[in-house]
Amino acid sequence: MANPGVQENTEYPRHIPVLLNDFVGQLKPFSGVWIDGTFGDGGYSKMLLESDAKSVIAIDRDPSVTSAATVLIKQFPSRFFFANDRFSKLADVAQSAGFETVDGVLLDLGVSSMQIDHANRGFSFKKNGPLDMRMSGSGLSAFDVVNNFSEKDLANIIYNFGEERLSRRIANSIVKERKNKEIDSTETLARLISDCFPKYKHSKTHPATRTFQALRIFVNNELEELVEALEAAERILSPNGILAVITFHSLEDRIVKRFIKLKSEIYPKVNRHQPTQLKFQPSFEKFAKKKMVASKAEVKANSRARSAKLRIARKLKSDIAPIEKNLLGLPIISIGAQIR
Ligand SMILES: C[S@@+](CC[C@H](N)C(=O)[O-])C[C@H]1O[C@@H](n2cnc3c(N)ncnc32)[C@H](O)[C@@H]1O
Repeated sequence: MANPGVQENTEYPRHIPVLLNDFVGQLKPFSGVWIDGTFGDGGYSKMLLESDAKSVIAIDRDPSVTSAATVLIKQFPSRFFFANDRFSKLADVAQSAGFETVDGVLLDLGVSSMQIDHANRGFSFKKNGPLDMRMSGSGLSAFDVVNNFSEKDLANIIYNFGEERLSRRIANSIVKERKNKEIDSTETLARLISDCFPKYKHSKTHPATRTFQALRIFVNNELEELVEALEAAERILSPNGILAVITFHSLEDRIVKRFIKLKSEIYPKVNRHQPTQLKFQPSFEKFAKKKMVASKAEVKANSRARSAKLRIARKLKSDIAPIEKNLLGLPIISIGAQIR
């Protein structure tokens, strides 16, 4: 069922783009065709258009960003394209807009301020709202997962996508609570999780942080989306094209880091069992030596920048090696019966 909370995004809070100055500092001058796979409030797309990128193809799965995209369509009618789609489809979206190759792909992962700060989207344990968390507003919601998945599946999701060591205790508590009444609000779920941490002190990270992250990642299939988007970027980037990814937590960052590392080496590296195995030359090289993080001043001005990391790689001219997904650190979990 579509979420009535997904409305046109005309009211505040707006999103402050994270690490924008670092991105510009590393990559300007801009030219060529760019894909902004995570349009959000359009901060990056706008900067690229104003900095003379030839064209920008923007994508966002959240239909509520359409009004912000429409402003740019009117301002840059021949240079800006927008698709309400998933970024795993970025190569198809670019091709439908008439571009067989592009010169840059940017992914600024995670949720926007409009999503997390609007209580009715159900992303935040700090604001009471319906348990939802769907970026696109359709498909399985956090409510469906929390109220219908088996205890084992819940524990698996919370452990693998939240790296929460009390996953089993939390899953057990959810299952006990929902026997009496459906868990339908972020507040109820956050309270129930907090009760699993008797020694929790308010100065530390809120105990619901990791479980909410896990549910959000699962509901939006975020890590699979990321892997598919990286692979699609590799296919559509022209030689010398730039891949830039901003991550906000260790699961995302691990995938991007491993992808760039594996793709910057001869693949497979060594295989003494198959010495004659076909070897692929690197398809990327690291552009910046290290990941970039926000300055103290940026974190002070925008606390969301705190955990952000920017990694950049440059595409090389070579064949693409088919890499097994398990090498990227993607947690593989099998979800069984989805009924309690
Ligand atoms: C951190 S915000 C991007 C903010 C944007 N760079 C700006 O300057 O305003 C992330 C955005 O990516 C979108 N998003 C996340 N995963 C997506 C996916 N798999 N496909 C398409 N959009 C996605 C979210 O809906 C959200 O609007």
